[in-house]
Amino acid sequence: MPHLHIEEFKEIEFPHAEDGVTFDFIAKNANHSDEKLIGVKVDEDEFFLLVKEEENKNLLKSDKLTRPASIFNVHKALMCYAKVAGLKILSSNVPTNAKNMHLEEVDFLKSIEFFASNFPQDREVRIEVGFGSGRHILHQAAQNPDILFIGIEIHRPSIEQVLKQVNIQKLDNLLVLDYDARLFMELVPSNIVGKIYVHFPVPWDKKPHRRVISTSFIEEARRVLKVGGTLELRTDSENYYAYSYETFIAFHKTVLHINKNRDIAISSKYEDRWKKMEKNIYDVTMINEEESAPLIVEGSFDFAPATLPHAKILELHGVTKRFDAGFLHFERVYTTQNGVMARISMGSYDRPEHLYVVIDKNKVSYYPYLPLKSRANLESHKILDGVLHG
Ligand SMILES: C[S@@+](CC[C@H](N)C(=O)[O-])C[C@H]1O[C@@H](n2cnc3c(N)ncnc32)[C@H](O)[C@@H]1O
Repeated sequence: MPHLHIEEFKEIEFPHAEDGVTFDFIAKNANHSDEKLIGVKVDEDEFFLLVKEEENKNLLKSDKLTRPASIFNVHKALMCYAKVAGLKILSSNVPTNAKNMHLEEVDFLKSIEFFASNFPQDREVRIEVGFGSGRHILHQAAQNPDILFIGIEIHRPSIEQVLKQVNIQKLDNLLVLDYDARLFMELVPSNIVGKIYVHFPVPWDKKPHRRVISTSFIEEARRVLKVGGTLELRTDSENYYAYSYETFIAFHKTVLHINKNRDIAISSKYEDRWKKMEKNIYDVTMINEEESAPLIVEGSFDFAPATLPHAKILELHGVTKRFDAGFLHFERVYTTQNGVMARISMGSYDRPEHLYVVIDKNKVSYYPYLPLKSRANLESHKILDGVLHG
């Protein structure tokens, strides 16, 4: 994560625009005075810079929740803020040779909004969840030029590595998304996907709710897969295999192929490591046999003006509201110049979304983007709108 280690944090007048960067506002954690967020705009990207003031160590860095499409924009915003506020930089991992070419100029790194508003539907799509080193998806994309591959990963260094390779190999049929694949699935139109690969997912033995494979993930997979399309799980964890098998077989009607120690065309870094250790590798392939109804999600993320006093909103810190298919939780609360802000998690339990909601006087908006239009998110939104009305 790009960051500046600074001597002392200094606030500027907000809003302020300079060198193509706009600093819109500052939000201060109401319960932890050492945390502040600065709302930034660079080109199309809107995100937060995070100020963390600790004893002997003050940091200015990018906020994990609002990651912009281009890391170059974070570099630009960090250096620009330091200049405008006259911060003394003690150390930094921001490259000084300005441009990070392959990230700034690639257009195959897509934002979630791209898929939400404009999902490519002109050809068969194949999705790889958690591509890691990218060996498998790069190989598949090179072998199948007529198919559109979408690689989803949350680990930035892996993403950068794959983007470099897409550039070098001049692949024009591979799009990359830095996002939680479990949420992404809800945006995919029905019946357009040929294959979904989930190779060596993190088993999360101690935190099963973080697993990629779940009943709702399989439901979404069945909806988006064409007839004859497959979801391919490959794992070295016997425990994860057993859990997944149970989850797949719990469906009333399903077709599964199980393999042990099957070789596939390209073996990933993980796979090589497990093979050297003589570990078993389990494959569960689910074949979809049914055409699904089109994806229609009704509802909006509009807010009525907030009537709950700002002081009462700050008291929501730590509050959780639950409903059948999901929840709304107030993780953190902040004060801003004209109001308050909350960091919330919302939606379904196994695919929660984390984001911010800004209350400026009585005008309420999500920041920087709307939640994904899923049924559970829309339900959480209704609760949030209600709560902000006292
Ligand atoms: C153990 S690695 C396997 C990587 C690769 N598939 C392979 O076989 O080498 C699992 C990868 O999944 C990614 N990952 C975990 N949860 C994810 C999620 N919800 N959405 C997207 N990627 C995820 C992790 O960042 C990690 O790179």
